[in-house]
Amino acid sequence: MNSKYAQILIPLVVAATVIIDVLISIGYEVWVGYAFAVLLCLWIEWSSAPYIVAAVATVLLQVGFILSAPSSAPDLAVFNRLVGAALVWVTAGLVWRAKLAKLDDATRRLGAIVESSSDAILSVTPDGFVTTWNAGAEGIFGYTAGEMIGGSILTLIPPHREKDKKWLLSTVRGVQTIHTYDAVRLTKDGRSIDVSVTVSPLRDAAGQFVGVSEIVRDISEQKRAQTFLRQAHERLEIKVQERTVELSGANHSLRELSSRLMQVQEEERSRLARDLHDEIGQLLTALKIDLQEVQHGEVGQAHAGALTDSLALVDHLLTQVRTLALDLRPSLLDDLGLVPALRWYANRQAKRNGWTLSLSVEGMARRVPVPIEVACFRIAQEALTNVAKYARAKTIDLTLHRQEEDVTLVIQDDGVGFDVVSARQRAQEGQSIGLLGMEERVRLAGGILEISSTAGRGTTILLRFPLSDPDPAEPRRTAEVMST
Ligand SMILES: Nc1ncnc2c1ncn2[C@@H]1O[C@H](COP(=O)(O)OP(=O)(O)OP(=O)(O)O)[C@@H](O)[C@H]1O
Ligand SMILES: [Mg+2]
Repeated sequence: MNSKYAQILIPLVVAATVIIDVLISIGYEVWVGYAFAVLLCLWIEWSSAPYIVAAVATVLLQVGFILSAPSSAPDLAVFNRLVGAALVWVTAGLVWRAKLAKLDDATRRLGAIVESSSDAILSVTPDGFVTTWNAGAEGIFGYTAGEMIGGSILTLIPPHREKDKKWLLSTVRGVQTIHTYDAVRLTKDGRSIDVSVTVSPLRDAAGQFVGVSEIVRDISEQKRAQTFLRQAHERLEIKVQERTVELSGANHSLRELSSRLMQVQEEERSRLARDLHDEIGQLLTALKIDLQEVQHGEVGQAHAGALTDSLALVDHLLTQVRTLALDLRPSLLDDLGLVPALRWYANRQAKRNGWTLSLSVEGMARRVPVPIEVACFRIAQEALTNVAKYARAKTIDLTLHRQEEDVTLVIQDDGVGFDVVSARQRAQEGQSIGLLGMEERVRLAGGILEISSTAGRGTTILLRFPLSDPDPAEPRRTAEVMST
């Protein structure tokens, strides 16, 4: 039965008993009804309820005596009523003790819960003195109940936090509702720990404010994890920003590079058109004139002269076309490999520019993979073109060298040298493409490039390509520049 039904039933039982008592005059057994009403108080939380019902029943027993029909033996009737009232009071006493026993049991259980909690649970008077201190509080703060009970709660506030002390005292005096806040507390061994505190007001049976209860949870670990996460997040943010800046820089360089590439393509086309027009076009025109002469002239000696001229023109034409084609893509590279192609190209450049060329090749009997051959050739082509354009060099040393693990090409000139860092800078701004193209080719073929140059003492370009597959997990250095 719940307390609501009991509250309704008790007045009904009392009323029914008094009515039956008045109307039927059942005599001394009437106390059974009242005792039943008292028994129902077991389901009512209010502890003095059984005595109140017993008091009402005592009065009503007298009322029933007065209002019921007079008895033939009045003394016995009075005695019966007195015994009935006594029995009702005895029942009330038993019910009260049963309720107390129930309450003790509930209090014991609550005590056990408080004691076994890993949170600190304590109570404090409005003046800030500790009145209860559980095992959880001992575990968190290191003080035993004996040390803390009767002592000030301010012991738990770190010394430099004066404001917290004032605030805590005002809280224990005036807290009206349950609330939770985060704070820093001091342990017995002097550590400052982060805690979460839930305070609630404590009232006595009459509803008077007698202090506060506090449930304190150690959240140092949680705070540490939060701080770690926040720092990791900030580091990540910084990294993302750095990467974004790098990416936008790379994007910019890429745009510059692609516009420079288009420009170079245009220049190459116009060079081709010029060569076709000036060299091959001229020769074809001369050839046409010779052939027209043969067509319109008289058969004889003149024809033989024109035909000899034409044949010489055709020879010239063939040489021009071959040179043009070789410049575009030397077939030597595809057919015979890097060494003959490099030798042919270097010799031709040396002859054109008047250099003393020294070419040394080692361990290149077997051909290396095509992407490496093409990269070496194109980079040598660009490097030698640069030497011709800028270096004013006398001697060129070319070394091509293969070991078990890698192939190395070194191109060295004794020219004027240059500032590599600022030349790369200018290239990245889109002013040239040669150096960046070298780096790009080396990167694509999986190698490394080192350029070192000293003013007045020439330039050395070193390329190295691994012949075995590199470890993909290993970050690779692709280009290094040195300028002295
Ligand atoms: N061997 C060298 N000796 C002296 N200076 C050099 C040498 N190689 C390169 N340079 C300098 O480095 C700069 C950049 O070279 P890069 O090949 O990128 O440009 P470029 O040859 O001027 O133009 P592009 O190659 O795009 O047609 C050159 O302008 C030149 O000043
Ligand atoms: Mg160049």
